[in-house]
Amino acid sequence: MKWGVVITLCLINALSTECFYLPGLAPVNYCKREDEQATCKSEVKLYVNRLNTEESVIPYEYSHFDFCVPHDDSKSPVENLGQVVFGERIRPSPYKIQFMKNESCTVVCTKKYSDKNADDHLRLATLRRGISLNYKHHWIVDNMPVTTCFDTKDNRIYCTTGFQMGCYTRNRRSTCVPQIEEQDGLYIYNHVDLTITYHSGMKEEWGNKFGGNAGRIISVKVVPRSIDHKAGTCNLQNTEPLRLTKDRLSDSKSLEITYTYSVTFIQNNLVKWSSRWDYILESMPYTNIQWFSILNSLVIVLFLSGMVAMILLRTLYKDIARYNQIDNGEDAQEEFGWKLVHGDVFRPPRKGMLLSVLLGSGIQVFCMTLVTLAFACLGFLSPANRGALMTCAMVLYVLLGSPAGYVSARIYKSFGGEKWKSNVLLTSMLAPGIVFGLFFIMNIVLWAKGSSAAIPFSTLVGLLALWWLVSVPLTFVGAFFGFRKRAIEHPVRTNQIPRLIPEQTIYTQPLPGIIMGGVLPFGCIFIQLFFILNSIWSSQMYYMFGFLFLVFIILVITCAETTVLLCYFHLCAEDYHWWWRSYLTSGFTAFYLFLYCCHYFYTKLQIEDAASAFLYFGYTLIMVFLFNLLTGTIGFFACFWFIRKIYSVVKVD
Ligand SMILES: *[C@@H]1O[C@H](CO)[C@@H](O)[C@H](O)[C@H]1NC(C)=O
Repeated sequence: MKWGVVITLCLINALSTECFYLPGLAPVNYCKREDEQATCKSEVKLYVNRLNTEESVIPYEYSHFDFCVPHDDSKSPVENLGQVVFGERIRPSPYKIQFMKNESCTVVCTKKYSDKNADDHLRLATLRRGISLNYKHHWIVDNMPVTTCFDTKDNRIYCTTGFQMGCYTRNRRSTCVPQIEEQDGLYIYNHVDLTITYHSGMKEEWGNKFGGNAGRIISVKVVPRSIDHKAGTCNLQNTEPLRLTKDRLSDSKSLEITYTYSVTFIQNNLVKWSSRWDYILESMPYTNIQWFSILNSLVIVLFLSGMVAMILLRTLYKDIARYNQIDNGEDAQEEFGWKLVHGDVFRPPRKGMLLSVLLGSGIQVFCMTLVTLAFACLGFLSPANRGALMTCAMVLYVLLGSPAGYVSARIYKSFGGEKWKSNVLLTSMLAPGIVFGLFFIMNIVLWAKGSSAAIPFSTLVGLLALWWLVSVPLTFVGAFFGFRKRAIEHPVRTNQIPRLIPEQTIYTQPLPGIIMGGVLPFGCIFIQLFFILNSIWSSQMYYMFGFLFLVFIILVITCAETTVLLCYFHLCAEDYHWWWRSYLTSGFTAFYLFLYCCHYFYTKLQIEDAASAFLYFGYTLIMVFLFNLLTGTIGFFACFWFIRKIYSVVKVD
């Protein structure tokens, strides 16, 4: 019932962007002049975030490049854990904007580079490198990203967040606007035209006392330009672009880059504040494709699970009816199929310790994903709430140590395990240890590269503290309750002597089964995967959590069904080693995920340097590992439930 409500809400949410901002952030009212009570602000703050690019995985902080810095010591906004860990660095900027005050052409600062100074060469080289790798600025005004918009061929306006820091023309290939295509070289965008659209508050309760001098910001769009301003002044008439070439720095000549900006305020009362994100989200590509694909895979899944359920139920009923008939009738020596292995199905597996630890961690990941997605699709983690998604996921993971310890302990105890101390320790250390270890190695690389994504030492210590001081004790608590309970009772007794497994055909051998098992779940998610990878690597905003929740449910269903089906076939072939196999069957989906990530790397991203590639695959490995835990656990528990069910209905003497 409860889940029904959540799913319904999610669907509604996916359908309408209106209720997307349920508990959204409060609107900020701006006005020309602040009143005494300061119910509105006159200064519109512009923040700069880290720069990133599709051609490298390494983001850089704004101050990594030699741009203008603010003179006063204005403070950076407080960032949450998710933002810090994932490399966002929001800083104040020297661009000063007053509400409803147009600026025609204002100088921010002038940077001089002379040939004599080695430092200047270095700074210029950093700029050049950034431009040739297509690094993009990400500015933030009123908690909204600053966007660049352009017309597409089919007369639609397409807006993306951020804008390039410069452009280049090289071998007939150009990333510049047509005006500056003549000469090969690098051009820096040193001038920005900001257009701020606002909704006037004249007719609203909150704004009418200001008499049309108040409003709320709807959108901020930027058009970057490259202008060779002479002598540190702002001159928009000049159409000559500012080239950054080595010969500009010859002998007596020095290079000057003057950063300038203009601001235009435009009133637009047609757009409501609550729907101000729509223009960014709507111009995201492929929204329709996504609808189509999700419906498609939903239909396939419904159809498939209907079939699976029917086949399983019918054959099972027949089997059970026959078994029980034989029992009632003459002597019961004519046993066949899965009933034959009743004395072995619950024989504990080899490496039971590892399996139970993986299952415990898998439950942790599963619960974390479920709750995070539920929150996200209820609108708590909208893109306006920067970094909230990742913070939520991490905090949940830490808090969910208890279920992990509990599940791991119970499974381990039912395997007849005695080494409960190692079990708890491994559960609390293995999976987080692997993730943290990989993360730490990548952090060293980022650090060496001076990237903004390198997390500060204090945050690293904080993460360790979360793990050791919160997650580990919680796991111990969970494990304590798990071990105190009696071991799970199995419906049939296990024989003393293991049965011989007959020769298997190619289809029922372990490896082909495992490889086949992952195909179906992966097939259901891979279209969504494309968007998720885009949002991670191409800084495209991801907001369709309604879709994602649906896809997650589909994934759970397909994982469970394929594992149960294959499990049934294997038992019919009298092969009773199902514990590990059920885990690996659905867990193999992660391998396909890895292949897809490789494919994405080679086709979509243009990454060339080794450090970047290393980081990409490092993050991919973490993702694949967690995904393996998730899918493997789903498969295992589905199979476990299924086997307990079928062996509890047949009569065994
Ligand atoms: C700013 O410039 C725009 C466009 O030229 C104009 O429509 C608007 O009225 C100006 N705003 C102010 C406050 O001067």
